[in-house]
Amino acid sequence: MCGIIGYTGNKEAKDILLQALTLLEYRGYDSAGIAVSDEESKKTQIIKCAGRVHDLEEKCKEESNHSVCGIGHTRWATHGRGNDPNAHPHPGGSVTLVHNGIIENFKELIQEFHLKGSLKSETDSEVAAAIINTLYQENGKDIKKAINEAISKLKGTFALVILVEEEPDTIYSVRNVSPIVATLCDEGAMLASDVTALCQFTNRYFVVPEYHILELHPDCLHLWNLFGVEKEPEYLVADWELNSAEKNGYPFYMEKEIMEQPKAIEATIAPRIKRGLPDFSVDKVPDSVFTKCDRICVVACGTAMHAGLVFQSLVKSVLHMHIDVELASEFMYSDPVIDKKTLLIAVSQSGETIDTLEAVKYARKQGAKSLAIINVKGSSIARESDYVLYTNAGPEIAVASTKAYTTQLAMFYLILARMAYLKKIYKPKETKAFISELSKVPEAMEAVLKKRHEIHVAAREVLEAKDLFMIGRGLDHSLLLEGSLKLKEVSYIHSEAYASGELKHGPIALITDRTPVVAVATQEKILHKEISNIREVRSRGAKVLIFVKEQFAKDLEKEFSVIKLPNARDEMMVFSASVALQLFAYYVSSDKGFDVDKPRNLAKVVTVE
Ligand code: AGP
Repeated sequence: MCGIIGYTGNKEAKDILLQALTLLEYRGYDSAGIAVSDEESKKTQIIKCAGRVHDLEEKCKEESNHSVCGIGHTRWATHGRGNDPNAHPHPGGSVTLVHNGIIENFKELIQEFHLKGSLKSETDSEVAAAIINTLYQENGKDIKKAINEAISKLKGTFALVILVEEEPDTIYSVRNVSPIVATLCDEGAMLASDVTALCQFTNRYFVVPEYHILELHPDCLHLWNLFGVEKEPEYLVADWELNSAEKNGYPFYMEKEIMEQPKAIEATIAPRIKRGLPDFSVDKVPDSVFTKCDRICVVACGTAMHAGLVFQSLVKSVLHMHIDVELASEFMYSDPVIDKKTLLIAVSQSGETIDTLEAVKYARKQGAKSLAIINVKGSSIARESDYVLYTNAGPEIAVASTKAYTTQLAMFYLILARMAYLKKIYKPKETKAFISELSKVPEAMEAVLKKRHEIHVAAREVLEAKDLFMIGRGLDHSLLLEGSLKLKEVSYIHSEAYASGELKHGPIALITDRTPVVAVATQEKILHKEISNIREVRSRGAKVLIFVKEQFAKDLEKEFSVIKLPNARDEMMVFSASVALQLFAYYVSSDKGFDVDKPRNLAKVVTVE
């Protein structure tokens, strides 16, 4: 969703802002804009438009003025359409701002501040600009005082980044829930909605604490609490290389990120294996977190929730423990049963998904311990949770999640093994055997990546499809839910994943001549049943493609189109099958000529409910 950048320093601000907005494009948006301060005239110039950052770049070329301080924004519409007037930044007298989040009481504020008739856009954000300006004028042009007073009136979530004409080299910011990170580096001081925009300059950054005012100058920055006391920023170091958010020769980030998975899995598991056993001491997660709970509740959205479903199957079969996997967006409104004996596991690549964040806050109120599986260091969910396990996947830019998903899976596999070991369900030898199989996952993934041309050829068969079905049982079904989401997101083909045994209870009515069906068959104990279900759809005319564990392929390849997946212990097949389905979705999308990385209507970071 909306992206934010702010820069003040010694370089041309427009260039830095536009470059950063390009890096933030992945978040999803429908308009973009920048505002730059002019030292001499003490005026703020706003350039904005509906469309892409590229359109904004073209518009900026028409303006030749020079500035070293400015703010920028990509907007994902919530209040009002994605048109020019609604694009940020928004002016309000001497104040110009960009905003992420939703100001829920903006209508009441329009009344209170008599703004009716004076606003140029339909946005809640312009209301915030107008209010801050009014209070700024009333408070003898003391901007910090004005911000302080304004935020006491705002209900909802916000990250506000503010320029005032009288201070042309300074940027102010304040936030509630919606994130802002900031840094000081050789080029100047910067802030952004996420670290991706900063990581071309530095990997040192801090998260601006909620309800603190950040003040950026070209060579220094100050952080104030609302009582005017200066606070020391707590810097973090992203273990991402400075070029890790670049495409490195790949046509799309999604392909690059699919290809990075063997390394990403390695980075997730290696630091957490000690003497062949899973070990979370590096994360400071005590064993009591796993031994003192009698129930697990996983909350997450989309892909992250699908990773939870795989874990659920394994927890049931290995640990025989009660586990629920909840869609975070439903969780809060379903009267969830959470108590002190519940371990709440929140899963999120971005660490900013608002529904998941709210679920963690709820669990805390109920006295439950929370453990977060997160990719982005210092993100809101990470900070809100009792314990954090970082997946070390590196920045994931494509909207369609790939390496974040498989690294979340890997983390769940480590948790499962640790719990089985602690509960003495696995003996040390069995735990080591499980971990040793997990350590072979990167190699198995490499083997699938080498088959990408074969998968590409298979993908061409479904380019014209309007509907597609994915079928499998047990773990295969759980991973197909994710495979199907991937295909929907990037190819716009209507795709449904069904548990194969469920087909004859309804969905098989949709199978007609040449309906594409993708099956996954990797689980020995249900293989024969799965094959029967595949034959049932084939008998009704379906065109079937099977991703099958190599050792089961012998008979199937005589009858069906198959793509063989390297043999591994059944539980570990999820990884190679997932890579195969990601590649399948990727090739369908790229062959259809879509912008794979930026599927329509979707945002990478979902910060509204
Ligand atoms: C994945 O391809 C998605 N675009 C989406 O489902 C995503 O997984 C979901 O929005 C959750 O995001 P998070 O992991 O950042 O919380």
